[in-house]
Amino acid sequence: MNSKSQVILITGASNGIGRRLALDLAAKGAVVIGCGRSQERLDEMLTEVRHISSSSAAIACDIGQLDQVRVMIAKVLADFGKIDILINNAGIGMRQPFVEMSFEIIEDIMRTNYLGAVYCTHEALPSMIARGRGHIVNISSGAGKIGTLNMAAYSASKFAINGFSESLYHELKPLGIDVSVVCPGPVETNFNRLFADTQPKSPPRLIITPEAVSQAVIALIETKKFEVVVPRWLALMCWFKRMTPNLFRSVSHRAFRRHVVAAKKP
Ligand SMILES: NC(=O)c1ccc[n+]([C@@H]2O[C@H](COP(=O)([O-])OP(=O)(O)OC[C@H]3O[C@@H](n4cnc5c(N)ncnc54)[C@H](OP(=O)(O)O)[C@@H]3O)[C@@H](O)[C@H]2O)c1
Repeated sequence: MNSKSQVILITGASNGIGRRLALDLAAKGAVVIGCGRSQERLDEMLTEVRHISSSSAAIACDIGQLDQVRVMIAKVLADFGKIDILINNAGIGMRQPFVEMSFEIIEDIMRTNYLGAVYCTHEALPSMIARGRGHIVNISSGAGKIGTLNMAAYSASKFAINGFSESLYHELKPLGIDVSVVCPGPVETNFNRLFADTQPKSPPRLIITPEAVSQAVIALIETKKFEVVVPRWLALMCWFKRMTPNLFRSVSHRAFRRHVVAAKKP
């Protein structure tokens, strides 16, 4: 990958997958701009990244707030002149029975995971279209390919990202802009640790590292592939679902149903 002097904006760069990506892309010579809500976590990330790529930067921004996204994109364009790659990575999740979930949480998940990516993409696109080049990389999830138990709100936000990505691909390819989507299985980050004790738990041997996801993202940027599902077992499951949807639903339902608990009475 020739990342030298490429300007890469990563949302949710202060932790987990985004932080790993910031370090790995900086090591490849890119100028990385990372965003997140907590200035403290951003400062920690930036100190590390600047050891590798001294012109890199961090901007505090809640991507669920359009006015903040507008300010962030305008600042990146004013300071760096372009955005070569936008990685829509910031995301939040929750594993809980849908009926017990508050609307506040459901709306927060959709606002961050879906609308946040939509806002950043919409604001970054005019400058990419004007240059006739750019790459939008959306970090989705295996939950955006397969609906699993107690993940209704999260899964909906990631299915939305997958549909958004597929449609945009066709719209932007003729304009010289690539669109890709990455669907990881469970990853060893704070995000996953938050609901690690809620059923259905991810078996520890199936949890991959942020490094593995970062390498998959970098390979996808280099090849400009549309979609990657990591790890391989998850890609295989997605294939199985595509080939035999009814059988797949029936097998997964059998695995999930023992974890269904009756909703608490009001
Ligand atoms: N971990 C997994 O098992 C897994 C599996 C599949 C897909 N994914 C996806 O991978 C992406 C990254 O997840 P992760 O595991 O790396 O999570 P993480 O370790 O919790 O990091 C999330 C990052 O997003 C930022 N963020 C959260 N809400 C934000 C907002 N409204 N505005 C700006 N930044 C925000 C966080 O910083 P602040 O809190 O400071 O804002 C943090 O930097 C997410 O889209 C997630 O859905 C994760």
